Amino acid sequence: MAEQAVEVAEQTWVDVLEAVDKTYAEMVGYQEQLEARNVELMQLRAFLSSIMASISDFLVVTGRDCRITDASASFCAAVGADIDSLIGRDIGAFIVDAHRAHLLATIEQTFSFKRGATVEADLATVDGADPVEFKIAPRLDRRRRVSGVVLTGRTLGEVRRAFSRLEQSHEELKQAQGQLVRNEKLASLGRLLAGVAHELNNPISFVYANTHALEKYLDRFETYFERVEGGAPRQELVELRQELKLERNLRNLRTAIEGARDGSERVRSIVEDLRRLSADGTGETIGFDLTETAGIAANWVRRGTKPDLKVTFTGEAACAAHGRPGHIQQVVMNLVQNAVDALAGQAGGSIVLDLSYEGAFAVLRVCDNGPGIPDHLKTTIFDPFFTTKQVGEGTGLGLSISYKIAEEHGGSLTLVPSQQGGACFRLALPKGERA
Ligand SMILES: Nc1ncnc2c1ncn2[C@@H]1O[C@H](COP(=O)(O)OP(=O)(O)O)[C@@H](O)[C@H]1O
Ligand SMILES: [Mg+2]
Repeated sequence: MAEQAVEVAEQTWVDVLEAVDKTYAEMVGYQEQLEARNVELMQLRAFLSSIMASISDFLVVTGRDCRITDASASFCAAVGADIDSLIGRDIGAFIVDAHRAHLLATIEQTFSFKRGATVEADLATVDGADPVEFKIAPRLDRRRRVSGVVLTGRTLGEVRRAFSRLEQSHEELKQAQGQLVRNEKLASLGRLLAGVAHELNNPISFVYANTHALEKYLDRFETYFERVEGGAPRQELVELRQELKLERNLRNLRTAIEGARDGSERVRSIVEDLRRLSADGTGETIGFDLTETAGIAANWVRRGTKPDLKVTFTGEAACAAHGRPGHIQQVVMNLVQNAVDALAGQAGGSIVLDLSYEGAFAVLRVCDNGPGIPDHLKTTIFDPFFTTKQVGEGTGLGLSISYKIAEEHGGSLTLVPSQQGGACFRLALPKGERA
């Protein structure tokens, strides 16, 4: 009996000890798991705080009671409080009075509908009220119950400042562009003036040479008439006439006067051209002869270029168009100048200006037999500032300005296939009343 009782007691001890062992092993296991969890949690916390510290947008997390549980450093800085003093405070406390109710109501809606919303409200920052666009998202727990909200936002002030900076640089860019357009105009004016100076020089030196000759003849006639008045005998006068070559001088006199008149005529017509060129630069649109305008423009560009360059006019001898001839002259000068530039250094260069009517349009084609324009540049050449010329030789604005002028006229400027092998531009303008 007694032996049996001892056996039972021993067995109980063994059981108890086993149970203690097992429990201890389990506890060690739990401890290890707990430590691992703890490390994970710490990492997660560090990760979250690094986000909170570095995010430039505002990020505020609240509980169901709208009290702050966490906030980004950017938000803390904006409202001028550290994170510890913010935690537990109502988000509404940081919104200006006028907007508070609206923000809180929107948060309430987020709770009820479990759906995000956006609301603009002034944040009471250290620098005063600053408008912020808040995005409010519901925060759901594991059982998909709303446990609070996450607010993100950025001060609109910053966005507005960025916008105004953008607007300012846009303005500066526009001014710079305007300046370049003016430069292009000055450059074409420069080219024109060089042409004018060159062109005026010829007739003026012609007139000058002729007046010089006239002076010489005058001297001789004066000498002769002095002798006549001095009562010189007839024989002496006959000899003097021969000596002074008066008969021939008389004929030359006429030629010299005609020459001087031709020269001044030429000067007059140059001035007339220039007057037409500068007139109606901005004024009203009028009916004008496109052939004549193109002729004047082409002539101006041609001056100062090599004489072996052939410029031919074909088609309508008079082509009625409607617009501002001053502007159109500028367009044609651009087109012809480009053709001249393209033909530089090429023998047998030829430019054809063809005039025709096409439907409601008066059309001018300016074609050359130069190298033409490669396919991949066919649209690019109309871009402002696109040029293949050296700095100082081209601004790249000629075609873009011309394009704009054509459009302003209700017409068009396009690059069209060429029969001569080179480039061919087509300028279409509203047809004018035919004369
Ligand atoms: N007739 C042409 N033949 C060949 N290339 C041309 C012709 N006309 C224009 N181009 C090309 O188009 C570019 C742009 O012309 P444009 O806008 O007038 O500016 P720019 O003459 O100042 O370069 C030129 O640099 C040239 O490469
Ligand atoms: Mg040009």
